[in-house]
Amino acid sequence: MNNIKGALFDLDGVIVDTAKYHYLAWKRLAEELGFEFTEEHNERLKGVSRMRSLEILLEVGGISRSEEEKLAMAEKKNNWYVEYIKKMDGTEILKGAKEYLLKLRNQGVKIALGSASKNAPMILDNLGITGLFDAIIDGNKVSRAKPDPEVFLLGAEELGLTAADCIVYEDAEAGIEAARRAGMGTVGIGRRDILKDADMVVSGLYELL
Ligand code: BG6
Ligand code: MG
Repeated sequence: MNNIKGALFDLDGVIVDTAKYHYLAWKRLAEELGFEFTEEHNERLKGVSRMRSLEILLEVGGISRSEEEKLAMAEKKNNWYVEYIKKMDGTEILKGAKEYLLKLRNQGVKIALGSASKNAPMILDNLGITGLFDAIIDGNKVSRAKPDPEVFLLGAEELGLTAADCIVYEDAEAGIEAARRAGMGTVGIGRRDILKDADMVVSGLYELL
């Protein structure tokens, strides 16, 4: 992991804990549809795109809907989610995340965001950390969701670096797989038993300060 020139960060679960807000909004949708959506079910949605998340939720509820209805449901969920995250501020940055970004910048490492979320730009703005990123790749820029490597390959490209020069920080299994497929080193954020394929695993970025 020495001689790294670029660091690519996932957002949800690495820099900020938005999973709780995604969960509140999905749970609300499930309640409207008449079934319970537990925190355990919610684990399956981490790192997964908005539409794929909805499909998993409908599968849990044993419900099928037309494409048009699904789009309307996803929009409804997102409106609720945006209501929650609008109120976020810098106090919700996960422990050590901002300090770690600053530490890497001071070492001359280029930094990119590699997130599936279409709400990423608003979240970074609310947290006041947009300026710490040299490139921002989010759900609006990619067409293929993790575990496809597209998001990280685009990130390296925007930084002007090769995949071998980059390292990825991820909390989701699908994200670790995407980074490995891109040919990048991986740091898992979370539990070793879940992030088995990561090169190393820490509980949070604070451990790397
Ligand atoms: C990922 C989250 O970062 O973004 C997923 O881990 C989420 O839970 C995905 O579904 C898409 O987010 P958004 O904000 O575009 O609905
Ligand atoms: Mg994540």
